[in-house]
This record gives sequence, structure tokens and C-alpha cells, in this order.
Amino acid sequence: MTQASKPQRDILVTSALPYANGPIHLGHLLEYIQTDIWVRYQKMRGENCYYVCADDAHGTAIMLRAEREGITPEQLIDRIRQEHQDDFAGFHIRFDNYYSTHSEENRQLSEYIYRQLQENGRIATRRITQFFDPEKEMFLADRFIKGTCPKCKAEDQYGDNCEVCGATYTPAELINPRSAVSGATPVKKESEHYFFKLPDFQDFLAKWTRSGTLQPQVANKLAEWLDAGLQEWDISRDAPYFGFEIPDAPGKYFYVWLDAPIGYLASFKNLCNRENIDFEHFWKADSTAEVYHFIGKDIINFHALFWPSMLHDAGFRTPTAVWAHGFVTVNGKKMSKSRGTFIMARTYLEHLDPEYLRYYFAAKLTASVDDMDLNLEDFAARVNSDLVGKVVNIASRCAGFINKRFDGRLGQVTEHDRLREFIEAGRQIEEFYEAREFGRAMRRIMELADVANQYVNDEQPWVVAKQEGQDDRLQAICTNALNMFRLIMTYLAPVLPNTAAASEAFLNSPLDWNGRAQLLEEHTINPFKPLMSRVDMAQIENMLEASREAQPAPATPAREPAADLEPIAEEIEFPDFAKVDLRVARIVRAEHVEGADKLLRLTLDVGHGERNVFAGIKSAYKPEDLEGRLTVMVANLKPRKMKFGLSEGMVLAAGPGGKDIFLLSPDSGATPGMRVM
Ligand code: MSP
Ligand code: ZN
Repeated sequence: MTQASKPQRDILVTSALPYANGPIHLGHLLEYIQTDIWVRYQKMRGENCYYVCADDAHGTAIMLRAEREGITPEQLIDRIRQEHQDDFAGFHIRFDNYYSTHSEENRQLSEYIYRQLQENGRIATRRITQFFDPEKEMFLADRFIKGTCPKCKAEDQYGDNCEVCGATYTPAELINPRSAVSGATPVKKESEHYFFKLPDFQDFLAKWTRSGTLQPQVANKLAEWLDAGLQEWDISRDAPYFGFEIPDAPGKYFYVWLDAPIGYLASFKNLCNRENIDFEHFWKADSTAEVYHFIGKDIINFHALFWPSMLHDAGFRTPTAVWAHGFVTVNGKKMSKSRGTFIMARTYLEHLDPEYLRYYFAAKLTASVDDMDLNLEDFAARVNSDLVGKVVNIASRCAGFINKRFDGRLGQVTEHDRLREFIEAGRQIEEFYEAREFGRAMRRIMELADVANQYVNDEQPWVVAKQEGQDDRLQAICTNALNMFRLIMTYLAPVLPNTAAASEAFLNSPLDWNGRAQLLEEHTINPFKPLMSRVDMAQIENMLEASREAQPAPATPAREPAADLEPIAEEIEFPDFAKVDLRVARIVRAEHVEGADKLLRLTLDVGHGERNVFAGIKSAYKPEDLEGRLTVMVANLKPRKMKFGLSEGMVLAAGPGGKDIFLLSPDSGATPGMRVM
């Protein structure tokens, strides 16, 4: 392959550092799986690639939790780090180093960078006023203050937003504010804070964010922030705080987000010291190495504003790119403890194979920041049909003949053209992996699996096996098919490291991306063992049940689901409401709309003739289940021209979306045209 002529790339990759105050859940895993697949791909291709991460160990939350548990913060972060590492290992996430931000390397690097910024005049100090807990003698961040919502009067709301009505406000606006730590009434208190002068980097950032380092959507969002003007960034916290004390500022600590990204450097430095890698080569200002940060969309400002400015000012190189992904939802909704969809990594591993999730995420991942839905039925269906039904099936249909009839010996390949197509497809798959278009890579690979299965179907080795004098043909068919399987598994190896290893053992030969043009011929393979089993919906049900049980009973059970509800809209006057003419309608016909993902076309009888209405309820209803049913419609809505035709009204439905859309149905006794009041 041409690969040999290309110089090896030096690549450093990171995932965001998970907080050391809670377990890893499936939301986190999207990021670590995405990064791990990309890294494994680079390594397979022979690049010099390192993947580092660490626990993010500092901050108030960790300090308070350790206190509640009656242990030191150091004990807490050691325990959680071990748990995190076990969870990651369970999902085959293979870091070259997994460290902690509470480390000597990180202290030194944080102090060094801070002093550089200070020398360059980028640190300001000024006195600010904040809420203070007089009993605990500590300053309180917004989320450590609770009280009654000033808008809807719901009790026990956090200092920055109300989970019941969705209002946002400052803690000063709360009615009856209390410290969530001690229950004391907070007082206002002044203290000196240290600030990083981010506005100095306005021009630098305007250029940096537009230099191909960010996804277009992200760059556009940042352009808005940059246009609005940057603010100085408060980087200090007063004692008591679990973190690093600021040099020459007794009682002042670096805010956790100051030393967290420096934790990337520290983890890498720790690796470099252990394995004699040249740290400077990767991090000096004009480095030719590549550095990539994989992060979630919620922490873009830290990685695309503060972090590059700090690095640049302190004389380090800036990241080659920062890549953000979206958030995981489960069955179309925010992960929820009461629904059992707040699934911990550990709980998942007790019920399901980690490679199922790796494949499902890969199949749905793109390079964009769009959220990703983990639809559990779709998850089971895809894993079963793609991995078990297509990929593993190729091997299981052919391996037996080779083992039983030919003593495990492969013959000669006879389908050179087809296999050439399989080898060539690798170039396109390379581009997809490189560009983080894993979904497209998986689709291309499944196309190959379809070709391979079709080949086996057409050749019918089980028929040939019964024919006299057809041994050579039988051996050739199986040799061709197993070579197809081998190439498919090579392409899937970054996603399915375990199945790839089992395939290597079975084929008695390594899966070598760059050497894939070398086919397996006249080669002895090992007996075939089933490589992967089907997902059973019962396993998923059990996992959800266990996730519900794993949750401590919520303190205020009645309120728990409210967090998922949309806030109530602004009040309207009665005449506004009276303008809406609601009528009972009978669904005469319901049909699919070609090219529409969400819509069904409904023909409604409203007493005064028929109406054509498009309704976004396809995810929840089959057309045949709707015909004949009664529903409620807005009968006087001005007809709207939609992509698929004219919509003459709207039907009423409730629910958050996905499978949970409930068409409103009046009681029996209603007839089409009746007014709804
Ligand atoms: N400690 C910070 C990161 C510091 S990086 C210098 C942090 N930790 S976190 O534990 O809250 O999140 C770790 C990563 O997981 C983040 O990139 C975050 O976006 C990601 N996710 C956490 N929940 C997620 C989902 N539900 N879905 C997808 N990613 C999510 O932020
Ligand atoms: Zn409220």
C-alpha cells in the first residue's frame, strides 16, 4: 500500500477529564468511545498516537462529598479514579495514560502557566461580593444556594434556575435563600479575586476560532460570543477549597477549570517521563505534532476560548482541533433516573456486551455536535441485524466446512475482483474514520457485509458440500468468503476490539490495516467459536430495572418528572384562547408521506367535510392503527403550505416526542364536528 511512503504522524489525543465526584454513565461513554475508536484507528494505521486522560479531581463538590462520607478528598478521588478506570476498561477504552489533576506534574505546570500569564500582565485582581455561608465559613457558588423560585414560588430551587418553571435568575432574587451546605441564611461578603484578562485575546481568538480548529457550527456560535465582547475570567476561589493554592496568594486557590485542561498536559508529561517521549516536541509553540481534544458541547467555551489563549500566552502550541459532540438522550428523552434511563457504565456491563454500545454509537456518530439518541429497540435491532446477522454470519456459514473437510486449511482465492473491491473500499473507510464520520464508515462496511452474504447465498456452499468431486470449489468458496470476513473485521477493529481479537485467533492471523491487500491463502485457521450473541430485549429491560433500583429514592418523588417537562408558556387572555376552534374529527384515512421522517397524512372528517392534515406523529403511530379513531383538531387554523402539500388544521397530541406521543381522543359519544370546550 502507499502508506509506507507517508511519514508517520505524531498525534496526541484527549477526552475531557471526568469529574471525580460521580460514576461514569452512558452519556459520558459517547465521548470516550468516540475518542477511543479514532485513536485505535490511527494506531492501526501505524501513526504514532497517544491517548491521555485523567480524573478532574478538584473543586467544592468533591470537597463537600468527601466531608459527607467522612474521608479526605484524596481518599475519595483515589477511590473514584479506580472506579472510573475499571468502567473505562470494561468498555475497552484504552488510554495510554489515565492520571489525576491532583498530581505533582499538574501543580507544577499550573504554577508555571500562571506565572507566565502574570509576567505577561494577563492577571488582574479585584474585590467582588458573593454569598457566604456564615456557619460553614465558605463562599457559595450559585448551585450551593437554594430557595423559593421568585417566578412560580416552587420551593427548594437552585440559585440559578428553577426546575419547575424553567425561570433563570440570580441567587439574590431567590425568596428565602439558604445555604445548601449548612442550611444557614447566606450573607454577602467581599473578597479579592484573580482574573484572567480574556479580552486581551479578542483578536487572537477571532483568528484562531476561524482557522479550521473548530467545527463550523461551533465556530459560528463562538463568533456570536466574540462579537458580544469577552469578559475577564474569574480564576480564583477562596479557602476552603480542594485544589492548588495560587502562588504568592495565601488562602486563594485556582478555580478547578483553570487547572483541569492543564491536566491534559500533566497526564501527557507523566506518560513522557515514564516512556521517554519528547514532551517538548508535542507542546512547543511551533510543534509539528498534532493535538486533538474531544469534548462535549457543554464545555466548548473552556476549550475554545480560555484554553487556547492560556496556551498561546504561556508559549505553548495551541490544539490542532477541538471536536465537540452532542448529548446522549435515551429513547428520545433526557436521561432520567425515574425512567431507569440514567444508566451507569457498571449497570450496563452487568447486562450487556460493551461492543454492542460501541457499535451502536459508531453507527450513529457523525462529525457534528448534534445530540444522539440511544433508542433501545433500535439498538437491539441494529446490533442483531448488522453484527450478528451480517458480519459474524459470514464466518459461521463457512468456517465449519474448512475445519471439518479441509483440516482447517484454506485454499486459493478465486474471486480476485470482488476481493479487490473489499480492499479498495478501505480507502474510503479511512477517510470516514479520519473525519469522524463513523456512521458513514459503518454503512460502507455493512454494504461489504451484504456483498459477502450475497456471495455465500449465491454459491450455496452447503449444497456444494453434498456434491461429489466439488471439494476444490467448496474450499475456494469458503476461502473467498473468509477473506471477505477478514477484511470486514479489519475495518471494524477500531470499533470492536474484542471481536477483532477473537477473529484474529480464529483466523490465526493478525488483522493488519495497511497490509490488508495480502490475502489469506493456503493457511491453517482455528476452530470457529461463536463471536457474538444476539441482544435480547429482556436483557435491556433488566438493565433498565436495575438502573431504577440503583437510584436512591428521590427526596421529592412527586417533583422528579417535572424536570423533564417543558415550562408553562406565558399567560394568555381568554379572548385569545376563545379564538381557537377545537373540533372532534374522525380519522378517515392515515397514510405514510413519501420522504417524510416524522409526518403522517391524515384525512379528517370534521362534520363540515374532509380536511387534509399533516401530523408529526409517525414515530408513535402506525397509520392502520389510526383509521376510524376520533381525535381533536384545531379547525380554524389558517391552511399552511408544507413541503408535502397543504395542511388544513392541526391535531392535538401530548407527550415529549418519539414513541411517547399521545393523540388526544375524546370520549365515546362524541361525533365529528362537535365543538370541544
Ligand atoms: N470535568 C469537566 C471536564 C474537564 S476537561 C478539562 C467535565 N466533566 S464531566 O464529567 O461532567 O463530563 C465529562 C465529559 O462527558 C464532557 O465532555 C461532557 O460533555 C461529557 N458528557 C457528560 N454527560 C454527557 C451526556 N449525557 N452526553 C454526552 N456527553 C456527555 O465536564
Ligand atoms: Zn419556578
